[in-house]
Amino acid sequence: MRVLGINAVFHDPSAAVVVDGRTVAAAEEERFSRRKHGKRPVPFSAWELPERSAAWALREAGLRPEELDAVAYSYDPALCLPAADLGLHDPWDSLRVDYARRAPDFLAEALPGLDPAKVRFVPHHVAHAASAGLAAPTRDSACLVLDGRGERASHLAGHYRGGRLTTLYTQVLPHSLGLLYEELTAHLGFLRSSDEYKVMALASYGEPRWAVDLEPHVHATGDGGFAAQAPDWSRFAPPRPPGGEMTQAHADLAASVQRRLEDVVVELATWLRDRTGERVLTMAGGTALNCVVNAALLRRTDFEDVWVQPAAGDAGTSLGAALHVAAGAGGGGSTAIEPMTTAALGRSWSDDELAAALRTARLPFTTPTDLPAEVAQVLADDGVVAWFAGRAEFGPRALGHRSLLAHPGHQHNLERLNDVKGREQFRPVAPLVLLERAKDIFSGQIPSPYMLFVHEVTPAWRDRIPAVVHVDGTARIQTVDRDLEPTVAALLEAFEARTGLPVLVNTSLNTAGRPMVDSPQDALELFGSAPVDVLVLGPHVVRRAEAFVR
Ligand SMILES: [Fe+2]
Repeated sequence: MRVLGINAVFHDPSAAVVVDGRTVAAAEEERFSRRKHGKRPVPFSAWELPERSAAWALREAGLRPEELDAVAYSYDPALCLPAADLGLHDPWDSLRVDYARRAPDFLAEALPGLDPAKVRFVPHHVAHAASAGLAAPTRDSACLVLDGRGERASHLAGHYRGGRLTTLYTQVLPHSLGLLYEELTAHLGFLRSSDEYKVMALASYGEPRWAVDLEPHVHATGDGGFAAQAPDWSRFAPPRPPGGEMTQAHADLAASVQRRLEDVVVELATWLRDRTGERVLTMAGGTALNCVVNAALLRRTDFEDVWVQPAAGDAGTSLGAALHVAAGAGGGGSTAIEPMTTAALGRSWSDDELAAALRTARLPFTTPTDLPAEVAQVLADDGVVAWFAGRAEFGPRALGHRSLLAHPGHQHNLERLNDVKGREQFRPVAPLVLLERAKDIFSGQIPSPYMLFVHEVTPAWRDRIPAVVHVDGTARIQTVDRDLEPTVAALLEAFEARTGLPVLVNTSLNTAGRPMVDSPQDALELFGSAPVDVLVLGPHVVRRAEAFVR
């Protein structure tokens, strides 16, 4: 069965193709359109489709639109209620519903040959749930979706058994942990439904002194659901204009909400654990990208394992919707679904194509016989490397295919990378670490291949890798398994041989406000505009005309 999944309705438009239960391709439209998040999540933009990523995913699968058995759209307009009935102030919401209803015809227009009758509407949170429960390596799991909003709910607590989802509870709007966090993001002067991870980073600088005051506004209700409505944030800290001064009160407010969120999610997960008896929790929805909460779930609940969909935000619903339709089609449940073992589901280029891109740009390059050794030496000499290798990743994290790499032993590299990326200086950068060495350096659940959990850094290592240790002594690690990522593992080994550190600083390959680099052209544009010392494109290495190594 050949299924195209489409996410379009809010933001992070994306496309995925699943053929006979195997995920062949998945990509976000922003990587093609070069517009961060693809579009703003406003009703006026709900008609915009992930046209380029969908066309690419079909090409990658070797399919023409007419050869699809189904198209899965991750929103079901039949479940919608008027926004006012949901307690939401969203006067144009009816446009969103209308555009979603017409999506089959829009899709047929965008992808000539596609049969609009083959479009199936998958409820938004079922699509999120499937992106976790069906993609995870375990067959059965308790499944928790925590989101801003779907058609009428903001959450789903369910049970996957044999590839079938039983929904146990959905929290209806206006109560929404995701929308609450978005409201706080806007109050703190950041971009709503985009910059939530900045609030999480800021929280580490504050004291949760208002967590108790927030309890009446945000609490679990004991039945699997919760109450969550934003209080008047100004009671605690004044609104911060974008770019305005960040005070201790702002950090304390972020810490207080983060603490309350953590407590509520732990209660929801505990309820779900009691109801299902499962040992594994699978998660998706934008709130599942909160690495601090995810780590707390492992620490504070009886779940032995927590698996989070790497593309936990709305982008992942294209994949989830496709998996849901694929799993339901055969009648045999998830036996037909291959688990996800990598987030590298996007575009790639051959070594020859990469060389051609460099020749077009008239850039001199070398193709070293021992690439890991050569790049490790640049990093050991404190150079910043733009690293482009293999298929682009699906989801917001750079996992060693489109990365900026640097030496973790020098504190100044945090500032240096934040400067390259035009980011606030309170933002941490994350470490890549060899899987077999991770346990010596970091606590918590290992392996941790998708940067979705925070880990304590062992005290003995904090001074050795200061660039990747956040103010609270934690790091959001990615463990590198040499069987899955042999080149990155070889690079880490070569770097350790030179420095004694099996760790590299890794942050996503992009400059301020831009989506992650996807194509060789994107990488060349970055190299041409950012203070990066060396560009690695596949096996090829480009250095500055005059080596600029600090
Ligand atoms: Fe969502």
